[in-house]
Amino acid sequence: MSSNEDILAKPLSLPCGAVIQNRLCKSAMTEGIADEYNRATDEHLHLYKSWSEGGAGLLISGNIQVDRRYLERPGNIAIDGNQDEEQLRRLRNLAEAGTKNGNHFWVQLSHAGRQTDPKVNKFGVGPSAIKSRNIAGQKISPSFTPRELDSKEISNIIHKFSDASRVLKETGFTGVQIHSAHGYLLSSFLNPNANKRDDEYGGTIQNRASFLIHTIRSVRKAVGKDFPVSIKINVTDCVKGGLPPEEAIELGHLLDQEGLDLIEMSGGNYESIAILDGSSKAHGDKVKEAYFLETSKSLREKITKTPLMLTGGLRSRSIMERIVNSESIDMIGIGRPLCGLPSGPKLLLEKKISSLPRYEDKIDFPLFLKWIKIFSIGKVLSRATTLFWCYYNEILLSKGEKSDEDGTRVKGLKAYNFMDKFDLKKASSLKGLNECEGLILNRKKK
Ligand SMILES: Cc1cc2nc3c(=O)[nH]c(=O)nc-3n(C[C@H](O)[C@H](O)[C@H](O)COP(=O)(O)O)c2cc1C
Repeated sequence: MSSNEDILAKPLSLPCGAVIQNRLCKSAMTEGIADEYNRATDEHLHLYKSWSEGGAGLLISGNIQVDRRYLERPGNIAIDGNQDEEQLRRLRNLAEAGTKNGNHFWVQLSHAGRQTDPKVNKFGVGPSAIKSRNIAGQKISPSFTPRELDSKEISNIIHKFSDASRVLKETGFTGVQIHSAHGYLLSSFLNPNANKRDDEYGGTIQNRASFLIHTIRSVRKAVGKDFPVSIKINVTDCVKGGLPPEEAIELGHLLDQEGLDLIEMSGGNYESIAILDGSSKAHGDKVKEAYFLETSKSLREKITKTPLMLTGGLRSRSIMERIVNSESIDMIGIGRPLCGLPSGPKLLLEKKISSLPRYEDKIDFPLFLKWIKIFSIGKVLSRATTLFWCYYNEILLSKGEKSDEDGTRVKGLKAYNFMDKFDLKKASSLKGLNECEGLILNRKKK
């Protein structure tokens, strides 16, 4: 490529032979709009059609659950075991809508583990019976002590990941991403705070990573060598006692031996707001752009065979170009900007804009409530407001309506209230989950 300017438009060839048409990716963003059986809906079609038209070479779905009892949100899609004809038809339609523009569309597969939504199921599962100290506090985001998984259950979950991968390949998705970031089940096994096991899944980083490594191998076996298999990891958990830097590097080295097609690097979990601003008490102040770039550099040195994607806070074209050019990062992951401006990648590539919108700086409490941010809980709520604004915009797009492009039409607090009710309603509408006891679903009468 002759100049820096065109680097983002350059196709990327993956180890499996697939080619991504440019370097921009819409990162996974939970949609919350599945039906009462956690199946894809027509709303998903609108949403992914607009993202496909938006110009990113790669779209990654919001987390789709491999075990329906452990949802991250009540409206997640689940691909759990054998799928009926109706669900297969809906998945085929979704794959078709999301690949309209010739882009790739991968499904992110996940298990929520100890971060299971308590509205649906209070009893999550994890490496050990240690509950997540959710940063938003017990009142706003309660967490419960998970049950420790035994090794038979672990192999069962590994099969669930590979079975789901087979389904999504058959239904026309063009790749799979295994979610091992942000504190969900696979990621929690890597986190020394959450994993105190003394069997083959606990202790050294090699042991703590073995659930993940077996999952990758099993997924690869299910989809074959020509189908993209990727993973999302935390380069840092951004909490005291979380994945140490030297172990993150060792993890990178282990993953590099597994024939993956892309490793996406992110950070944080429910115990830190780093996912959305890179900040944490353990890892210093908030970074304005490319939150995890510094931490990712040491991994890049160890990961020599697998393409890398960096996600978190990337907004301006010049920084994206520099990162791809000089930091040997292959893909740029983008989240929040594409909720308000789904055509952002296209506009960046056509040089009609030089930066994606920073909604995180715009969407906030109303003026009279801004004082709340002097408290740390206020800062968390402020980030949550942007998150709920994103959810709200996903809903607008899923109905074929116009999103709040300039971030002025939909007020943060309004989105927060709306989405809170939306998820409660979803939780109470779920069917066929009789064995779950949630704060809303199948709640026990006192
Ligand atoms: C509305 C929303 C939903 C998200 N859902 C997921 C998800 O399902 N899986 C995941 O790995 N990350 C999820 N994330 C995190 C994003 O993929 C991304 O890592 C994060 O937003 C930082 O990128 P950004 O600064 O470009 O937004 C979500 C983020 C947002 C804002």
